[in-house]
Amino acid sequence: MDLIQAIMGRRSIRSFSNSRVPIDMIEQLVRCATAAPNPHNSRPWHFIVIDDEGVKGRLASSLVNSYRESGQGDKTILESARLKTTAPPLTIIGCVDKRMLKKDNDLEYMMATQGLAAAAENILVAATALGLCGYWRAAPLTCMPAVRKALAIPEYVDPQWMLHIGFAGEASKKARVNEPGENVIHYNCW
Ligand SMILES: Cc1cc2nc3c(=O)[nH]c(=O)nc-3n(C[C@H](O)[C@H](O)[C@H](O)COP(=O)(O)O)c2cc1C
Repeated sequence: MDLIQAIMGRRSIRSFSNSRVPIDMIEQLVRCATAAPNPHNSRPWHFIVIDDEGVKGRLASSLVNSYRESGQGDKTILESARLKTTAPPLTIIGCVDKRMLKKDNDLEYMMATQGLAAAAENILVAATALGLCGYWRAAPLTCMPAVRKALAIPEYVDPQWMLHIGFAGEASKKARVNEPGENVIHYNCW
């Protein structure tokens, strides 16, 4: 698969087979993440790779508790949140290391999160090229204390996103083709 095909072929797939992702693929995905552009080449990131059932369960419980405490969701929604976290064979959580920012201010923090977002896309595109699939979940951003607690993440590290990755399951819907959309290009000026 060439690069353009992988970029255009990537879609959010949320249903996985039970097959584990081989370690060489996991390492390749994280290498691709670390090839992303980042502010001042400071590389202010860490990637937490989760493939252990016990850890997935702990993370799921922590997220479900957080949703429950904030009054979000009935029993069905909470159960679905648990399954979303435990079912995927592999989860990668991208984190910003605040100690590595060039300056301790909002601008540097935002640039670090932009670099980390580029790293996430590298993983998703590389996964597509390797015959894997997956999707991006915002839970670490919306439930940061719960994710931090479940995974013993220090205060100077902020988890930002989680990517669920695996081989596509039988139930995965046929992905649509994304069209570029109208009026997104502005040549030379607005
Ligand atoms: C910052 C960000 C947060 C997202 N959060 C979630 C999420 O919490 N749950 C989810 O199912 N998908 C999430 N997505 C995936 C989007 O829903 C998906 O990318 C979008 O619908 C376009 O579909 P596509 O990825 O198949 O092109 C997120 C994507 C981004 C970039």
